[in-house]
Amino acid sequence: MNILLIGSGGREHALAWKIRQSRLVKQLYCAPGNPGTASLGINLPVAADDFPALKALVVQHAVDLVVVGPEDPLVKGIADFFGNDEVLCSVPVVGPNKIAAQLEGSKDFSKQFMMRHGIPTAGYKSVTADTMAEGIEFLSMLKAPYVLKADGLAAGKGVLILNDLEEAVEELKAMLSGKFGAAGTTVVIEEFLSGIECSVFVITDGKSYKILPEAKDYKRIGQGDTGLNTGGMGAVSPVPFADAVFMQKVEDRIIRPTVEGLYSEGIIYKGFIFFGLIKVDGEPMVIEYNARMGDPETEVVMLRLKSDLVELLQGVADGSLADKVVEIDDRTAVTVMQVSGGYPEAYQKGKPITGLDAVNDSIVFHAGTALADGRLVTNGGRVLAISSYGASKEEALAISYANAGKIKYEGQYFRPDIGFDL
Ligand code: AMP
Ligand code: GLY
Repeated sequence: MNILLIGSGGREHALAWKIRQSRLVKQLYCAPGNPGTASLGINLPVAADDFPALKALVVQHAVDLVVVGPEDPLVKGIADFFGNDEVLCSVPVVGPNKIAAQLEGSKDFSKQFMMRHGIPTAGYKSVTADTMAEGIEFLSMLKAPYVLKADGLAAGKGVLILNDLEEAVEELKAMLSGKFGAAGTTVVIEEFLSGIECSVFVITDGKSYKILPEAKDYKRIGQGDTGLNTGGMGAVSPVPFADAVFMQKVEDRIIRPTVEGLYSEGIIYKGFIFFGLIKVDGEPMVIEYNARMGDPETEVVMLRLKSDLVELLQGVADGSLADKVVEIDDRTAVTVMQVSGGYPEAYQKGKPITGLDAVNDSIVFHAGTALADGRLVTNGGRVLAISSYGASKEEALAISYANAGKIKYEGQYFRPDIGFDL
């Protein structure tokens, strides 16, 4: 079959790498893809949210299945666009529809959903400019630190954690006055949870689900989890503290109630669900949902998935996921993200990258690269994800770090301590 994969990051390169291994694939197209996906399929220069142009690609290339990587097109309704189109409606989309993608697109929607289905999460109150006084009152009842979240998508920047009540009140006012634009028209105020985080992924056809390998990502830019938040500086799978007892609780209290809850509300969710979890005194709680796979988590999850991903995607498409088997590699997989100097603040692009030929035993996924006059150059904050297997976390990390040292570009940086806390 012909598959169209939408997106252009490290996550999409890792999905393309896994899709390409399937005997079921005739041709893989990526829109817009990156120099990494170009080695596995055909890149087509169409933006992930240009639905009419994507329609033209699907028709022109006889695409049989569409896989959506990032959240933006999902929250904008790509699945609905396909479903409501006379020509496209027979082409299945792996990715939830607009309402289902609200699990990620609206923190208020996801909190209300969790409350309706008894899914453990932090206590909260949602407020708008009209109800700001109630918000301030709620804040004053909480203990520090204070968690404020812009309701809508804010490119990972919409969450503030503040130690001081006065500061929290000022930030709440700023958010409700447009600090994050429309995304902050509603603000979710949350009780702070203290614990250790991990990411759990499922693939679902709306009725049944399969659990994929869990992962832990490292969001802060600096060693020892310090400094600014980034899109993710590395990941490790498996996660030692997500043991069988914990994962059984996750399935019973969080995964099953989520999939059944969506179904009971008439929402047929087809795609990946990313559960951002925190373990508090041994018990799992939901920090957030995402309507897609994680990045950089996908760059380790795909390494550990032994089953044919395309068979699972087909199961999502035709509702036969219950019949599929998910086999997981026992080895540890890690990824180390190489980023541009200055990231996550201002950084330069277009720096020539060398040394990729010297890489041994790692799989290098392209996150932010481009070709300029035939040379590979940096083209984003996160540049390359260096993924490796090992019998242990230490062994896998040693391989990724040895290879990270061989890849060179001006301003290159990576965290030297991925997995330090596990
Ligand atoms: P989110 O975008 O909701 O995942 O939030 C971003 C990050 O903020 C999370 O990965 C957590 O580290 C932190 N965070 C969010 N909500 C809470 C909470 N209620 N308690 C503690 N930390 C939180
Ligand atoms: N790694 C976190 C995310 O993809 O949102």
